[in-house]
Amino acid sequence: MYWLPFFMVAVVGITHGQLTAQSSIAPELRECYFDPILLNRNNLPPTTIPVLIDIIRRIEDNPDVNMDLRQLSALLLHTYRQDGIEFHQPEGNLAISSNVIPFAPTFHSFHRHRLLLTRLIPSNLQTLGNTTVNSVLKCTLHHMLSTTVDARLRGDESNCNQLSQYRALRTGRSISDDVEILDISVLKTNDKNGQMRNFDPNSDVEYTSNYGSIKSERQLLGESQCPLLDGVIFSQWGAVSGGNLIAGIAAGAQPQQVPVLELAKGSVLNYPNVQQTVTSLYPATLSGDLAEAILIQGTERGSSSISIGTAGNWNSTQAPRHFMIHSRVNIEMTDPEIRGGIDGFVLGSAITSVLGTFSSLRLSQLLDMYYSPRNGIFSQALRACNRRELSQTHITNQNLAGETFAFAAALDTNMPLRGTIMGGLEQLVNSAVTNFQTYSTSNLNDLSCVTSIATSLDYRLKTNLYIVLDSSWPYQAVYPAIAYLVDSIEVDKFGSSITLLNAFDGSVVVNTTFSQVEFHSNYTLAAHQSMLNGVNLQTSLTNIRIMMQDQLRNESARNYVGGNSTVVLYLINTGHLQNNEIVFEQARLLNETVPDLRLLFATATNQFDNIWNLVRDIHNDIRAVSLATTGTNVPIVMSPVLERIQSVGRRIVNPLCGSQFVDQLSGTRQFDDFVEPGYINFYTVSPNYFYVHNDNRRIRISRSASGAGSLVVCHSRVVAQPRRNTTIVGLDPSAITCENLASTGNIEIRLQNACDSFWTIGSCPPLHISVQSETGAVDATSAICTDASVCRFPYNIRYQVQIEDLGCFSGASSLGASLAIILTSLYLAIF
Ligand SMILES: *[C@@H]1O[C@H](CO)[C@@H](O)[C@H](O)[C@H]1NC(C)=O
Ligand SMILES: *[C@@H]1O[C@H](CO)[C@@H](O)[C@H](O)[C@H]1NC(C)=O
Ligand SMILES: *[C@@H]1O[C@H](CO)[C@@H](O)[C@H](O)[C@H]1NC(C)=O
Ligand SMILES: *[C@@H]1O[C@H](CO)[C@@H](O)[C@H](O)[C@H]1NC(C)=O
Ligand SMILES: *[C@@H]1O[C@H](CO)[C@@H](O)[C@H](O)[C@H]1NC(C)=O
Ligand SMILES: *[C@@H]1O[C@H](CO)[C@@H](O)[C@H](O)[C@H]1NC(C)=O
Ligand SMILES: *[C@@H]1O[C@H](CO)[C@@H](O)[C@H](O)[C@H]1NC(C)=O
Ligand SMILES: *[C@@H]1O[C@H](CO)[C@@H](O)[C@H](O)[C@H]1NC(C)=O
Repeated sequence: MYWLPFFMVAVVGITHGQLTAQSSIAPELRECYFDPILLNRNNLPPTTIPVLIDIIRRIEDNPDVNMDLRQLSALLLHTYRQDGIEFHQPEGNLAISSNVIPFAPTFHSFHRHRLLLTRLIPSNLQTLGNTTVNSVLKCTLHHMLSTTVDARLRGDESNCNQLSQYRALRTGRSISDDVEILDISVLKTNDKNGQMRNFDPNSDVEYTSNYGSIKSERQLLGESQCPLLDGVIFSQWGAVSGGNLIAGIAAGAQPQQVPVLELAKGSVLNYPNVQQTVTSLYPATLSGDLAEAILIQGTERGSSSISIGTAGNWNSTQAPRHFMIHSRVNIEMTDPEIRGGIDGFVLGSAITSVLGTFSSLRLSQLLDMYYSPRNGIFSQALRACNRRELSQTHITNQNLAGETFAFAAALDTNMPLRGTIMGGLEQLVNSAVTNFQTYSTSNLNDLSCVTSIATSLDYRLKTNLYIVLDSSWPYQAVYPAIAYLVDSIEVDKFGSSITLLNAFDGSVVVNTTFSQVEFHSNYTLAAHQSMLNGVNLQTSLTNIRIMMQDQLRNESARNYVGGNSTVVLYLINTGHLQNNEIVFEQARLLNETVPDLRLLFATATNQFDNIWNLVRDIHNDIRAVSLATTGTNVPIVMSPVLERIQSVGRRIVNPLCGSQFVDQLSGTRQFDDFVEPGYINFYTVSPNYFYVHNDNRRIRISRSASGAGSLVVCHSRVVAQPRRNTTIVGLDPSAITCENLASTGNIEIRLQNACDSFWTIGSCPPLHISVQSETGAVDATSAICTDASVCRFPYNIRYQVQIEDLGCFSGASSLGASLAIILTSLYLAIF
């Protein structure tokens, strides 16, 4: 019986050794296996890199957790990782006892995991306290870090065939050469170099006594043709094993030479010619998986060629949670483990020099920079898209072979196998290392850096997105579409926010959040099903109008000058919406009193004729989206909606206006913003802030800190996203004005007589501004943005946006204003 001393600190010492290294499920993780809500992975957030970063960031931001990257990466493993947990069907269909959870760490990956935690990555036997994150986050993190295979028959195996086609396409291999048919006779006969081994009951490895049914047979005979691999995280650059990734960073951050004899504790090593120590980075990443493949394939199939690499795929590309592998055998070093192994190895190798550049770099930032399409970790070379080259420059065959040989010899004394290797281990090692190199060079066809840049935007959104949801959508159809938007607009502490409202009455379903994890844990199937049914534009739009006006008042009270954009998106399944005078009146009020808000409609059927009068831009603000109930084709269907959201510039406002627009001069006010090297930010100022002339009215942009390269400031009244060197056919070159912003001084955009030739505010175009870092993403070699509460990346360039004497003019008052001008001119003309 283990107990946890309860301190009011986040780090808890454990007297009885590491619980996640014990051969039963660690007490803190048990809840993930007995609580039916947590057990159903569809209730947990998807396993993606942004979700991983979000959870890690929450731990870093927790005031009770005060530790650096080195300590945190080790403690994450010690607290949340436990490899090899498998389901065991209770015998004879006994009702599952409340004293027993039918799960235990019995899969082969557990034995290497145990060595990792007890011998390779020290943590002074500490873990993070059980109040550090809530249960949903804890279980999500546990599943992202813990490698295991679930071979139970699920019932959706008819899709497995589709997976093979997908694989053939992805890896360029033919289907036949890698679909291995299970040959039970091979299993049953003891092969030439194998014999049953005796287990030493006094060794410190515990096994289940019932050897006949442990690991290998149960896994291989499991009926699913495409078992689920756990511990896998979706990234744009291929699925990655989170355990290997974090272990590599932890091992690299605290490098250790561990004597092989210490790993093979208590057992005699059979291999006198292995090197005497291993470097912990190797067994934590690549040689750990290689050693498993060598020992298991060597004893179970007597292979002389060790098979490396097992392809697989997610059963959903939006909100990925279940990763299926395309084979039931030779699954010791699957594709995600290879990628995670390489990434962990590369980051572990680089971490010392990276910390030399910026010693207080956070783990979340390290991952954010590595898995980013453009900039990388202080060097464009250090990015996930460059994995193949990184693997070649960092991993040498000879070192890998020597380390793998030594670790395989050590693991052999720790892991129960179906035979005993009496010789020839070195050949198996060489075969495994060679096959690893070949496979990782030619079979992982992940997105290249060139394609990553070509297919990613060079601007990031800071959008407060409100989705007004019609609950008549099937959850399976609409959830992937929403997940796609949440991911694409980068809902993030430093980026966008998401709020889910009900189209029945505009009430809140999920509160405004800057956290993907929080959004996904709240918008579950159960939450969707408990929403009130129906769409009522009159009620919902009225309540949204009141809420948005309230928001403006709140911003006014906080002296908010700008920085984010706001979009309301109605996502409607119901046919024929009820539109009427009252609805139109609400839309008009919203238009006039919340001028920076963009109202969009995405409807299952074409409702243009019905709702065209509610939006600002009838050609672009209404879209038909046909979402499949299978949740497929989401990017194709949703990208026109996403593009519309992306086109809305960040606001710059006079905070004194609120939603009343009583004319008041703003005086001089400012806010700071940040741009990444090579990126550009777009802003839009509504004519509601400059409609009537004022001599002093202007916007000023200045650098407020150092940073790589120069900034370019452009502005335009015509082009919504102005850039230098724009080539738009038929565009008057003077429509865009650009200036370089030096490290001192500023750029002034004057707003005198800016609406002179327009009779109404509605017809006067807004002012669009952009701030671009012109470095073209050069290697930023120093950390200049070091305040982790505001700087997403340490190389972000800070600048200031200042407003001077913006006014307040609303649509309602504009007629009056124009009328006054007409009367004045008439008066002047007559007299
Ligand atoms: C955390 O652990 C302590 C000690 O085991 C226990 O008393 C407490 O209920 C746990 N808290 C949570 C939130 O699980
Ligand atoms: C993916 O497969 C899992 C396991 O069978 C299932 O629970 C889940 O609903 C599937 N998801 C999709 C989107 O098909
Ligand atoms: C704007 O976005 C930032 C983060 O990107 C957030 O901290 C801030 O609260 C947002 N402001 C408003 C008014 O939504
Ligand atoms: C939203 O937040 C408010 C307080 O900030 C809370 O009262 C309300 O219950 C929350 N709504 C939901 C659906 O979580
Ligand atoms: C999510 O749900 C929890 C528990 O019901 C609630 O406390 C929290 O406020 C919700 N978060 C959001 C963003 O609605
Ligand atoms: C505005 O602020 C009040 C008081 O702080 C708060 O109750 C309300 O929810 C806020 N409204 C919005 C839309 O954020
Ligand atoms: C614009 O063109 C000039 C000269 O052709 C070039 O030096 C500059 O790098 C270009 N700027 C951008 C942002 O493409
Ligand atoms: C909103 O204002 C724009 C001009 O800014 C105008 O073209 C549009 O018709 C207005 N829409 C509504 C619903 O009042």
